[in-house]
Amino acid sequence: MRFTPIREILLGKHENEKVAIRGWVYRKREGKETIFILVRDSTGVIQCTVKAGSSAWAEAERLTIESSLTLEGTVKQDKRAVGGYELSVDAISVVGLAELFPISKDKSEEFLRDVRHLWLRSRRMNLIMRVRGKVQKFTDEFFESQDFVEVSPPMFITSACEGGSTLFGLKYFDQNMYLTQSAQLYLEILIYSLEKVYCVAPSFRAEKSRTIRHLTEYWHIEAEQAFADMEDLMRLEEGLLTHICQRASEQCKEEFAELKADISKLALVKPPFPKITYTEGIEKLKAKGLNVMWGEDLGYEHEKALAEEFGKPFFIYDYPKQIKAFYCKTHRDRPDIAMSTDILVPRIGEISTGGAREDDKEILVARIKEMGLKIEDYDWYLDLRRYGTIPHVGFGMGLERLLTWMLDLENIIDAIPFPRTTRRFYP
Ligand code: 4AD
Ligand code: MG
Repeated sequence: MRFTPIREILLGKHENEKVAIRGWVYRKREGKETIFILVRDSTGVIQCTVKAGSSAWAEAERLTIESSLTLEGTVKQDKRAVGGYELSVDAISVVGLAELFPISKDKSEEFLRDVRHLWLRSRRMNLIMRVRGKVQKFTDEFFESQDFVEVSPPMFITSACEGGSTLFGLKYFDQNMYLTQSAQLYLEILIYSLEKVYCVAPSFRAEKSRTIRHLTEYWHIEAEQAFADMEDLMRLEEGLLTHICQRASEQCKEEFAELKADISKLALVKPPFPKITYTEGIEKLKAKGLNVMWGEDLGYEHEKALAEEFGKPFFIYDYPKQIKAFYCKTHRDRPDIAMSTDILVPRIGEISTGGAREDDKEILVARIKEMGLKIEDYDWYLDLRRYGTIPHVGFGMGLERLLTWMLDLENIIDAIPFPRTTRRFYP
């Protein structure tokens, strides 16, 4: 038997035709004359009606929420039904009768997170996961158009990329190892062969902060480019974000509408993005009356205040060296300033960090020592400067932070199917 996707029916392609659908019971309402069953499949939700006296009545009566089933019937236009069409049912076949489903209307956010494995069936999570999948596809499209090679970095690593405080350690047989915080150092290795590389892979942060924008495991879009400078980097990042937003505004209209997410902000994303230096940022914050000193890292409140002013993604660049990682290249005529840049967006703040990498071996060695890191941990990294060093740049963008902004999500937790935070790691 051919089963028709529900979305096809809702698009009006099968009016007055006999069709078969399959899926799960989403909601059910029983009247004396009619039983209304909302049935969902991966593509949509449709109202199905069973009339008293029909041979399907007995099956309809025993259906419980989330039972899996197949139905046959005739498609009717009905302005009152959600979606404008309904199925007038002739036959129902139960595939798996569900026990009493724990999720009902009045459940709290906390409860929905406890039963994440079931809540993922909701229309809301279905739509978010669809957009997430598409954004990953748009990312691949963009990098392919720019001749980047997709590569696969390791998850077990031997030395920190982003500093010890957010590093997860683990026993690797009888050695100490870590979970990766960023693929960057490995992408740097690969540009000596492939020049332009990217990956979308998990990163792990032992992040104690409980905020709307922190996970302990997230997906990281990272790229690295040989023979390139800060201008190339900003152009690349602008290009990626613009491509994703443009494609989403064409291809995710229905999802945004059903999620009640504001799609119009995506059209504001076009190059060139506004760019301010860190120093200008500090001045702006002081002018707004915020208490912040040059040399301090920007906190969430600072980032939000700046992002509000722009109302769309923008760059902050040229940060004080002391708040940046050991690998950041400094201006040759301003050794206190790192060629590092973040993209900030409204409500979320930072969604990306990138920059030029120190390509001078002696400066890099001094920097590693200055930061109290062990030089022997970075011996292979120094080899990249020993053998044919090149100017190069790269960045990392958090996929979930990007989605949280795009889809107006209240919390980053909903941007990933199985969130890991300090408190949540089940199922
Ligand atoms: O700013 P970060 O730490 O930069 C790096 O890891 C660089 N090595 C990237 C590179 O140049 N290849 O992390 C980059 C981005 C952040 O801007 C943020 O979007 C995301 O990763 N991110 C997180 N997302 C969710 N939860 C967390 N705990 C995150 N930490 C960072
Ligand atoms: Mg950062």
